[in-house]
Amino acid sequence: MAGYTKAFAMPVSPFPSAEEARSEDKLRALLHLCQRMNCERDLDRLLDLVAREATFLLDCDRASIFLYDPEKQELWSKVALGSEEILRFDASKGIAGAALRGGETVIVSDVYHDPRFNPNIDDTTGYRTRNLIATPLRLLSGETVGVFEVLNKKDGNFDAADAEVVRSLAAQAAIAIQNAQLIGELRKKRDELTEENTMLWREVSGKFAQPLLLGNSPRIQQVLRLIDRIRDTSVSVLIGGESGTGKELVARTIHYTSLRARKPFVALNCAALPETLVEAELFGIERGVATGVDKRIGLFQAAHGGTLFLDEIGDLSLTAQAKILRVLQERTVERVGSRTPVAVDVRLLAATNKDLESEIKQGRFREDLYYRLRVIHIQLPPLRDIREDIPLLATHFLAECSRELNKGPHEFSPAVLRRLCEQPWPGNVRQLQNEIRRMVACARGRLIGEEDLFEGLLVDPAAPSPAAPSSAARTLPEAVEELERKLISETLAATGNNQVRAAKLLGLSRQGLINKLKRYQLA
Ligand SMILES: Nc1ncnc2c1ncn2[C@@H]1O[C@H](COP(=O)(O)OP(=O)(O)OP(=O)(O)O)[C@@H](O)[C@H]1O
Ligand SMILES: [Mg+2]
Repeated sequence: MAGYTKAFAMPVSPFPSAEEARSEDKLRALLHLCQRMNCERDLDRLLDLVAREATFLLDCDRASIFLYDPEKQELWSKVALGSEEILRFDASKGIAGAALRGGETVIVSDVYHDPRFNPNIDDTTGYRTRNLIATPLRLLSGETVGVFEVLNKKDGNFDAADAEVVRSLAAQAAIAIQNAQLIGELRKKRDELTEENTMLWREVSGKFAQPLLLGNSPRIQQVLRLIDRIRDTSVSVLIGGESGTGKELVARTIHYTSLRARKPFVALNCAALPETLVEAELFGIERGVATGVDKRIGLFQAAHGGTLFLDEIGDLSLTAQAKILRVLQERTVERVGSRTPVAVDVRLLAATNKDLESEIKQGRFREDLYYRLRVIHIQLPPLRDIREDIPLLATHFLAECSRELNKGPHEFSPAVLRRLCEQPWPGNVRQLQNEIRRMVACARGRLIGEEDLFEGLLVDPAAPSPAAPSSAARTLPEAVEELERKLISETLAATGNNQVRAAKLLGLSRQGLINKLKRYQLA
C-alpha cells in the first residue's frame, strides 16, 4: 500500500519538463548508439563511431578513446578527431592515466590548473583542452581496455549527469572494443593461415604439376589425353592393368589435376582388409555396435568433396559390392548400426588387375556395379608393350632415386640402357623403379655400367626368354598368366620359397605376391 500512498502524495504532470524530454532523447540516442556499436566489427570504424556520436550526445567539442597496451604500459589513440596520427604516451601520466590507474571517472573543469594534466598531448595535437571527463573502459571481468575522454563542453562545464552518460557509454564501448579486437585478431590469424595454406598448396601442386604419369608412347599419350578430357567431370573410372603398371598413379593424377584436387584423396586396398572390416571402413560405424566400439566415420565420408580410390576392387565381397552400388545410386551412406543416411559427394575411382568380365561370369562380381564403375575404362599397358618409354622412365627414376638417397648425380652407360629396354619386366614399372633404386644404392661411381646390373637382368636378348610363354597360350591374358606363373614359380624356387625376397625380385609388394599365389593356386 506504500506505493499507492506515494503515488497519491506526488502527483505527476502528464507533460514532461524540458529537462526530462532532453534526458529521454539522450537515453534514446544512447540506446541507438549501443545498437550501432554492437554491429560494428572493425576497430577503427568503431572507435570513430563512438568518438563522433559522443560529441553529439554530450554536446562537447571532442571525444578520444585511448587503448591500453599492457606490454608497453602505454595508452595510445588513433581517434583524436581532427588528427589521423597515432598518439602514444606513458599510461602513468595525465588525467587519462589517472582514470586508468584509479579505475574511477574523473571530471576536471579547468585542466591547466590540475596538476595531473599532461600538456604534451595538447602540444602535439595543437588542440587546447579546457575541461574534460575521463573514464576507464572496463569490462565486466574487471579488465580495463583503455580510457574514454570527452573534451570541452560547448556551453560551460561537464556535470554529474554528463559523467553518468560517459560511464554508460564507456561500459558498452568497452565490450564492443574487445569484440572488435578479438575479431580483428581472428581475421589476422585467418589471413595468415590462408596465406600459409596457399603457399603450401602451391608447393604441393608444383610437385604434382609436372606430368605424374610419364611416357611418350602412343598408349600412354592416349591415357593422358583421356585423363585430360575426364578429370573435371565426376564420372567413375575403372583402371585396369597388370601389377605395377601405374594404376594408383593414374588415380592420383586424375584427382590432383581435377577440380577436386584441394579435397581429400582417400585410398583403400580392398584386398588387404578382412571382409568383416570392409563395411565399417567404407561406411563408418555407430558407437556401441560391438563392445568398446566408438563412433567412426567411414572412408566415403572422409573423402567427401574429393576422390575415393578403391584398389583391387575385384577382391570385394558381394555384400560390400551391393552396398557400394547403393552409395553410387543414392549418393548417401549409412554407418554400420545406423539407419540415418548421410549425403556424400565423392568421385569413385577403382582399380583391378583381375579380368572383371570373367569374374562376372563366375558370379564373383556384380555386373551392375561393373557398368557403374567403368563409365570410363583406362587399361594400362604392361611395360614390355611400351619399351620405347623405358629410357625416359629409367632416367627419371635414376634422378629421383639419386635425390632421395642423397647420392649422385648418376648416368647410365648406353649398354645398361639397352639392357633395361630388353628385359621382360613382369613387375612392370614398379620393378624397373625398384631395380634402379637398388642400382643407385649400390653405385660406386657416377656412371652406372653393366657390372652394376643385378644378375637376373643380364639376359641375352638373342636367347629365347626363359619365361617365354608356350604356344599353347592363345589369348594375350592367357599368355600373360602363363608368363606370370612361370616367373613366380622360378623366382620362388631361386629364393628357396622366401616370399619377401621373391616379391622384391619380382617388383611386387608382399601382399601383391600373396594375391597372385592365391589366384594361380601356387601356394
Ligand atoms: N607411367 C609412369 N610414369 C612414372 N611413374 C610410373 C608410371 N607408371 C608407374 N609408375 C610408378 O611405378 C610405381 C608403381 O605404380 P602403381 O603403384 O601406380 O602401380 P599399380 O598398377 O597400382 O600396381 P599394383 O597393381 O601392384 O597395385 C609407382 O611408384 C609409380 O609412381
Ligand atoms: Mg596399386
